Amino acid sequence: MLKPSILPTKIPHKRQFFWLLACPLPFHSRSSTFIFRISVSDVFLSVDVLFIALQIVSKMFSASMNRGAISDHLLRCFDVVLIALLIMSKMLLALVNRDVSGDRIFVGKLNMGKNYPTVSDEYNKAVDEARMKLKELFVEKGCAPLMLRLAFHSAATFDVNTKTGGPFGTLRIKAEQSHAANNGLVIGIDLLEPLKQQFPIISFADFYQLAGVAAVEVTGGPNITFHPGRPDKDEPPLEGRLPNPSQGKEHLRDVFVKTMGLSDEDIVALSGGHTLGSCHKERSGFEGQWTSNPLVFDNSYFKELLAGEKEGLIQLPTDKALLDDPVFRPLVEKFAADQDAFFKAYAESHMKFSELG
Ligand code: HEM
Repeated sequence: MLKPSILPTKIPHKRQFFWLLACPLPFHSRSSTFIFRISVSDVFLSVDVLFIALQIVSKMFSASMNRGAISDHLLRCFDVVLIALLIMSKMLLALVNRDVSGDRIFVGKLNMGKNYPTVSDEYNKAVDEARMKLKELFVEKGCAPLMLRLAFHSAATFDVNTKTGGPFGTLRIKAEQSHAANNGLVIGIDLLEPLKQQFPIISFADFYQLAGVAAVEVTGGPNITFHPGRPDKDEPPLEGRLPNPSQGKEHLRDVFVKTMGLSDEDIVALSGGHTLGSCHKERSGFEGQWTSNPLVFDNSYFKELLAGEKEGLIQLPTDKALLDDPVFRPLVEKFAADQDAFFKAYAESHMKFSELG
């Protein structure tokens, strides 16, 4: 019989803990693949708590059965099955996770393809420091919107079918910077460069995604979980994968769902990123900002979208496409009415795009 001393000493984040009681592996659907993200001790704890709960039930059952020979035998079998389940679940976790020591957040796919490598303490420290300095830079230069666009374009080239592209720092390469959809991003890359040089330990891949997270946070948006460990790749993706602003909802689904492997809700939540910034004629051919305060991250993008076209504000064809779809529109309405719901959905979708590939 296992003793309560097997319980880990660290009590994990409450919300994850209750999730785990209901389901040991909380899955986030990403169309054809599934992503799960939990810390190892969360799983161990949930399995242990489940085990102890079943033990208590078994004891109550035993008392009510008056300890006859048959019930003793049944209970012994029950114990063996429980212990076997416990051991199997822990072995499975040890197998899929390369590092089960400590309380490291565990990121993986159900197909057990990719885990970010564990980064050193020194790397984590550099990430924390860089996050702060990025925010200072963005406030000073007013460039948070451009940095969010940069982070999105760095990741949104991912093709789930060929497993190419994605947030692997290839935007540092001139060939990718010259893709038409990336017009103007070189300004952001150049602004980041001096800061990047202060943190040679951080990959470009992580640095660009960190910039995206910092841009949202510094403009008042939600905190976004950031996991370091993306490697830099040297092969830029093919041109033409980023969304085309002149297209409609089929195109949005082709790019976000069929190619990137995200969902309809991700499309709407992420479109809310246009609460920041503006279009520049010389970069995209469009001109104007989406909201009256393009340096504040809030749900005004959705409010403006529902309010219709206004002088001085822009709505791209891909923005308007969100109004004309039975799945997209209710989400636009929900996010316009409830900023907390938008922030929650946005933070989750942002993390998903930043970890494509
Ligand atoms: C849904 C498909 C999308 C399309 C078609 C699209 C298209 C565009 C276009 C045409 C611009 C103007 C670029 C310029 O002229 O400077 C722009 C800017 C921007 N985009 Fe998107 N975008 C999309 C999704 C996203 C997503 C998912 C995010 C982030 C979560 C994002 C963040 C931004 C930001 C912050 C800007 C402003 C940049 C600045 O002020 O310099 N976009 N986008």
